[in-house]
Amino acid sequence: MSTETQDYPFLAACRRKPTAFTPVWVMRQAGRYMEEYRKLRAQYGFLELCKKPDLAAEVTVTPVERLGVDAAILFADILLLLEPMGVGLEYSRGDGPLIHRPVRTGADVKRLKDVEPEKNLSFVFEAVKKCCAALNRKVPLIGFSGAPFTLASYLIEGGGSRNYIHTKRLYYTDPGAWNALMERLAHAVAEYLNGQIAAGAQAVQLFDSWAGCLSPVDYEKFVLPYTQAAIQRITPGTPVINFSTGTAGLLKSIRAAGGDVIGLDWRVNLDEGWARVGHDVAVQGNLDPVALFAEPKDIRSRVADVLRRADGRPGHIFNLGHGVLPETPVDHVIAMVQAVHELSAR
Ligand code: CP3
Repeated sequence: MSTETQDYPFLAACRRKPTAFTPVWVMRQAGRYMEEYRKLRAQYGFLELCKKPDLAAEVTVTPVERLGVDAAILFADILLLLEPMGVGLEYSRGDGPLIHRPVRTGADVKRLKDVEPEKNLSFVFEAVKKCCAALNRKVPLIGFSGAPFTLASYLIEGGGSRNYIHTKRLYYTDPGAWNALMERLAHAVAEYLNGQIAAGAQAVQLFDSWAGCLSPVDYEKFVLPYTQAAIQRITPGTPVINFSTGTAGLLKSIRAAGGDVIGLDWRVNLDEGWARVGHDVAVQGNLDPVALFAEPKDIRSRVADVLRRADGRPGHIFNLGHGVLPETPVDHVIAMVQAVHELSAR
């Protein structure tokens, strides 16, 4: 393959250019469903792994080789950006990530430290460089960040949440504090992603994993302007994937927020979702991650259904609708990737 980035099927699809087959990668492809990862995790803590660029690069590259996917995603986490803000980030066993000093008031927002990515997150940029070297131009590297809303809700709730009461209460009762927080996050996200791009990432994904809890009116008023601000500040020419879940009812606004590629989850049929965001933008998705627990022949027919709905139109990147689950059999992921390549060959 030529070293011209335009020739990578993944990047071509981001730009809605025709490709010889539909490119595929898997969200959370570097993670616990893989024995190689679990072995490393037995020796190192999660944050420790993220902060050792050599190991982060190894974890990034392993699934590319095992699965035969068309893109690598940097091994890191959306919450790394929050650590330098001084809120006390901890990855506890069992409970998921915790923020020890959550942000609940305007005074809390003022107390947050400014993130200086080049200073505080240089280990991420170092990992990007090592990943690019290890990938040796085989496939492009995707950098990523949490989107401002998903980061804000982590900061405010202090961990996972069911109803996002603290988050929504802040924007209802103190919109000034909410705006100040979201502006700071939009700025930090863009700077952080631009640092990853400068270090070698060829595309970036914004994870707005929790946007599905929002009403369309609230999304438009309290979230869209900041996602848009972050995307507009990203280095021109680098494809941006705007990913969210549970947002079938918000797709038009999500499209309006920006991105070259819009993530679709499995709660909407790919053809309907694509029509809703418009065929003048690329889409990524959208197999149900739990479909990978079916038999490989059934996985294949579900892959065929997604591809049929994409209708061979340039600008489809195959993926799951959300991250691969830790219990997933690796062989089934490989079967999915092979099915995508075989059934989409043109
Ligand atoms: O996709 C990849 O393979 C790249 C690495 C990646 C991780 N997290 C590694 C990780 C990416 C892209 C993320 C994104 C992320 N992190 C999101 C958005 C995507 C999504 O799935 O919705 C969110 C909400 C987080 C926050 C987070 N980090 C949670 C909720 C957890 C614990 C629960 C879980 O899913 O593991 C983490 C920890 C985490 N991030 C792990 C990994 C491999 C597991 C840590 C471990 O090894 O114990």
